[in-house]
Amino acid sequence: MNIRLPNAPLTDEQLLQLNNLLQGLEGWQVDWLSGYLSGYRAAQMTTDLVPTAVAERIKLTILYGSQTGNTEVVAGQLAEKAVASGIDATVFDMADYKPRELKNERYLAVLTSTHGEGEPPDNAMDLYEFLGGRKAPGLKGLQYSVLSLGDSSYEYFCQTGIDFDERLQKLGATALIPRVDCDVDYDAAAEQWINAFIENLSSTMQASVPQPSASTALASSTAEVLYDRKNPFPAPILENQLLNGRGSSKEVHHIELSLDGSGLSYQPGDALGIYPQNDPILVAQLIETLAFDANATVELDERSDTLINALMHHREITLLTRPLLEKWAELAGSDELTQLVEDKSALTEWLRGRDVLDLVQSYPLADLDANGFINLLRKLPPRLYSIASSQAAVDEEVHLTVAAVRYYSHNRNRGGVASTWLADRVTDDTTIPVYIDPNKNFKLPADDDAPIIMIGPGTGVAPFRSFMQEREERGARGPNWLFFGDQHFLTDFLYQTEWLGWRKSGLLTNLDVAFSRDQQDKVYVQHRLREKSIEIWNWLQDGAHIYVCGDADNMAPDVNEALLDIICEQGQKSREDATEFLRQLTRDKRYQRDVY
Ligand SMILES: Cc1cc2nc3c(=O)[nH]c(=O)nc-3n(C[C@H](O)[C@H](O)[C@H](O)COP(=O)(O)OP(=O)(O)OC[C@H]3O[C@@H](n4cnc5c(N)ncnc54)[C@H](O)[C@@H]3O)c2cc1C
Ligand SMILES: Cc1cc2nc3c(=O)[nH]c(=O)nc-3n(C[C@H](O)[C@H](O)[C@H](O)COP(=O)(O)O)c2cc1C
Repeated sequence: MNIRLPNAPLTDEQLLQLNNLLQGLEGWQVDWLSGYLSGYRAAQMTTDLVPTAVAERIKLTILYGSQTGNTEVVAGQLAEKAVASGIDATVFDMADYKPRELKNERYLAVLTSTHGEGEPPDNAMDLYEFLGGRKAPGLKGLQYSVLSLGDSSYEYFCQTGIDFDERLQKLGATALIPRVDCDVDYDAAAEQWINAFIENLSSTMQASVPQPSASTALASSTAEVLYDRKNPFPAPILENQLLNGRGSSKEVHHIELSLDGSGLSYQPGDALGIYPQNDPILVAQLIETLAFDANATVELDERSDTLINALMHHREITLLTRPLLEKWAELAGSDELTQLVEDKSALTEWLRGRDVLDLVQSYPLADLDANGFINLLRKLPPRLYSIASSQAAVDEEVHLTVAAVRYYSHNRNRGGVASTWLADRVTDDTTIPVYIDPNKNFKLPADDDAPIIMIGPGTGVAPFRSFMQEREERGARGPNWLFFGDQHFLTDFLYQTEWLGWRKSGLLTNLDVAFSRDQQDKVYVQHRLREKSIEIWNWLQDGAHIYVCGDADNMAPDVNEALLDIICEQGQKSREDATEFLRQLTRDKRYQRDVY
């Protein structure tokens, strides 16, 4: 988009420079820039009147590793505040940062999430390995801090942040402020870290600089966002339809919500964040076991609420985390529990399939009151669901594909909070608190003619329905290939009619399915990939983008392995070269994964 402003008070050259700058910017950078400019002008007006000493401005490089976008947003917040404090801050996606530049940096912020089993997000992998490798430079003059985002219900909590911190220290860098590891309710901890970091940097600056007011910069860049993660939109439910046929052991729901009037918009590949409610039966059992008054007043994040409300809406009770068990062990004074907490593998085993009710029943605390209890539990975090629709096709709606999580363990039937709430307990009158979780790492190619290969068994198929709707609406001519899998053809072929329709219309060029339990030997999508290795290689030569969505534990590693085999075999490459080939595809955004 070229700006043409005949009356602009700018020279041709300035207009050209402005155009060049704006064309390279992403949406959030433009938002930030608009805030920065108004802040800058405010400061300029002040300094027009009062000349200030020119100080040495600190140059801060902010690197983020992010898979689903949370850390990227926090990195943007840090940049915004840094600039408002007169610091020259530049944000880089780690994948776009040249690791060799590190030795020239003096101030560095590293923000990263952790994925897989304690692994770095895709965009952090190269830098992570570089810092741990033999080519890493000495970083004696570097001052840094690390913010890590994670989830304490995972065994390797915030591992990537821990590793970055250790690697930087080992290379001689100095931590300006200590690393902060954030759990799923990361906002407050992240904000504290940002403030402490900026304060530290500011005091390092020699003299005061003309500083755009933070409030101006922040207010103007956020003014237009009505609904977001901190302020979710109450979306009415339009449809809730079971996708599996009778007799299936799966229970997947197609859910349609209305975004009418919210001003929210999304792109194919984004996810929807949902704030769920706990199961009232489980909440009642907990309150009864603890012999508390359901209407007792408890203090919640600087406001009061009733115990029952707090447990229904604000605290996680279906999952147990290591930090909770550690705190509980301290209070319980039970030797057995202390021993359990100290034995990592025994604890992991004990946590599996147990919830807060099990903890309360197994290790009752003598002097616990309702308020103390609530404040031991962690906040109920939102759940993410891949968006299964394209706004170009469904306008003010958003569609999801949600598998109900139900299982039996330790003598009790259990259900996942969000998925069973959506499946069982929402009614036509319920509104669902939602926000858009943008994911720039899972996007259709900008080139509508580029071929795409979509690998999405089970609910992993959701974003590909969105991709197809979008390509259909755009009249995109690039070939599309879907690999889908589930247990049975008859009962589990999610959105079968739509896929077959697109196959017939020609939009879907190839469709390969793997129904694991329709024959004696199990067949999965990775088997189908191997069967089609020549064609897949040819598609890759034609510039195909590969997308993988769904199960992170087994499917995604198995598919990765199958792709490596195909590249070795068809591309006549060594294992090492095939790995590098796949890495390069990732860097070029031609191999994108959204796995959970
Ligand atoms: C980017 C992203 C996209 C996603 N997209 C989708 C999607 O499109 N569709 C979809 O259905 N989900 C999707 N998910 C997963 C979704 O966010 C939730 O994690 C899922 O629905 C479970 O949430 P819940 O609140 O129902 O369960 P929770 O209350 O969170 O409970 C789930 C937990 O229960 C335990 N558990 C489950 N089964 C067993 C068992 N058999 N034995 C012992 N313990 C068990 C595990 O600890 C598990 O983590 C996505 C996740 C991410 C991160
Ligand atoms: C598939 C998957 C695996 C994860 N593995 C871990 C883990 O091993 N350790 C951890 O602390 N957090 C783990 N997390 C939690 C994320 O780090 C957390 O949700 C974080 O806020 C994501 O930030 P991002 O959106 O910037 O990637 C995992 C999340 C997902 C979806």
